[in-house]
Amino acid sequence: MSPVDLGKILFSLDCPRDENLLVGFQGGDDAAVYKVREDLAIIHTVDFFTPIVDDPKSFGQIAAANSLSDVYAMGGSPLMALNIVCFPSSSLDLSILGEILKGGEEKVREANAFIAGGHTIDDKEPKYGLAVIGQVDPDKLITNRGAQVGDALLLTKPIGGGIVTTGIKRGYVKGEVLEEVMVVMKALNAAPSELMQQLGAHSCTDITGFGLLGHGHEMARASGVALEIYKNKVPLLSATKSLVRDGVIPGGTKTNLKFLEDKVSFSSTCKEEDGYILADAMTSGGLLISLLEEKAYELRELLKTKEGMAPAIIGRVVEGKAGSIYVS
Ligand code: CO
Ligand code: CO
Ligand code: CO
Repeated sequence: MSPVDLGKILFSLDCPRDENLLVGFQGGDDAAVYKVREDLAIIHTVDFFTPIVDDPKSFGQIAAANSLSDVYAMGGSPLMALNIVCFPSSSLDLSILGEILKGGEEKVREANAFIAGGHTIDDKEPKYGLAVIGQVDPDKLITNRGAQVGDALLLTKPIGGGIVTTGIKRGYVKGEVLEEVMVVMKALNAAPSELMQQLGAHSCTDITGFGLLGHGHEMARASGVALEIYKNKVPLLSATKSLVRDGVIPGGTKTNLKFLEDKVSFSSTCKEEDGYILADAMTSGGLLISLLEEKAYELRELLKTKEGMAPAIIGRVVEGKAGSIYVS
């Protein structure tokens, strides 16, 4: 079953009605948000998956950064987390699990949060992730819904992580390219989250399994606007293009592009490879932030100079059919 089919089943459920549930699962947002007090809401999210890199500690770090990211995408800060673990204890050495958990714990600590428990089951294939609780002032919550016509779109990390990690699995990639994607996937989205809030960002989501175009589509649909993406401005991991030309395209990336067929239009200067790259299903990607143009330039400068990041302004919010994207 594809993620799209799974999504249909989820969305066919009745969304719970509770006036304090600020964000449920109907808007395709990154996390659920529940208001417990006038000045306090809880952000709740869960994510786990099979290893995408060989090194167990790195896998733990990436899985944790990815799980924490949904809290950051809502403008919140993580409080605590629970481990979710599947592990084949009869066929793999337990020290591997120890390394995975150590990596996860390290990242959660870096996020100024802590792991307070978890649950483990025996399974044929290892899987790891976290359920994370974060907090936010309800007035400062940033969802998929607020993008406004005229906003600029800022992306905080390069894309292509799905293509590159598939390249690693197939033995096409090593050395510096491997190091580059590891650094990107391990990086927390904490600093951009805090700064975008100070600059009054209108909308935000993180780039993960549905790719830049898929998550962009969800933001545009929820906000009732369309997006224009400047393909030449989108930062890519260095090996992305050459890998796609060699036919390294993850299944999830193909599924994403198929799903987006009638939602995204490409200018005549786009090649087939651009669609795959922009729809690439990645793990622990950056934040896609919609905000006033002058604030976007300010945010880009702050992230460059203070955080040593390489963010880019990759498009703008325009009028048009809600959810549609034009790639120029
Ligand atoms: Co997300
Ligand atoms: Co998620
Ligand atoms: Co239990």
